[in-house]
Amino acid sequence: MSPELPVSAPKAGDADRAPEVRQMFERLAPRYDLANRVLSLGLDQLWRRSAIKALGPNVRGEVIDLCAGTMDLTRMMLDAGATKVHALDFSPSMLSNGAKKLPPGANVRIETADARELPVEDHSVDGILCGFGLRNVPEVHKAIAECARVLKPGGRVVVLDFFQPESAPSRIVQASYNSLIVPVVGGLITGFGDAYRYLAGSIDAFCTRKEFEELMRREGLLASSWDVFPPVASIVVGEAPRGGGDV
Ligand SMILES: C[S@@+](CC[C@H](N)C(=O)[O-])C[C@H]1O[C@@H](n2cnc3c(N)ncnc32)[C@H](O)[C@@H]1O
Repeated sequence: MSPELPVSAPKAGDADRAPEVRQMFERLAPRYDLANRVLSLGLDQLWRRSAIKALGPNVRGEVIDLCAGTMDLTRMMLDAGATKVHALDFSPSMLSNGAKKLPPGANVRIETADARELPVEDHSVDGILCGFGLRNVPEVHKAIAECARVLKPGGRVVVLDFFQPESAPSRIVQASYNSLIVPVVGGLITGFGDAYRYLAGSIDAFCTRKEFEELMRREGLLASSWDVFPPVASIVVGEAPRGGGDV
């Protein structure tokens, strides 16, 4: 399917942005985790745990950590009983920093890949988790279509991210934090204030979680969403219909 994107979603013309985004994460990799913990006041790990819960029993199968970065979610999925994790990301440095967190012998396939072209067989995985990744992906509908392609019937994709808030007061609070705090604190920790200015801007440019649900429905997934606590991050879940019919 080729949906018309909602106005606030990343635009198709942003396709050329991907190499710059990859370069940025290559540079941030060594200090990415520390910046996350400080900027979220430690809440990022709680949000990731909520995302693991949203996968339900599907976590105990073959799963993908999409835009895996430094692999916090890969580690959590292993701890929750995943039989195999595909940790996919287009930044080799993010992945190599993350690999240090894995227990010896863990069944994890670590591979550089673009979220818009997954090196995974059709209808072969039980679950996909993507934490704070898809708002960086240009042509995000292509990444969602790839998720729909590789999920088994009844499989779930869980997206945890900072979506554009729906209410005006929340938008103002979030935009102020993103423009005033994130670049300064992120810059102090990593030495790359510009990167954190981009990351904050990518939140302002992203779609709402309701719009994201709609993108999932256009790829044939059954979608729902909710905010986590405090309601600055949200979870959107898409489930591949059971029953084998084409959607
Ligand atoms: C904000 S980090 C999130 C990392 C991790 N999921 C987490 O929970 O911390 C975003 C990650 O998405 C990756 N990424 C961005 N665009 C991508 C794309 N088009 N394909 C694959 N990975 C991408 C970046 O390299 C980066 O590691």
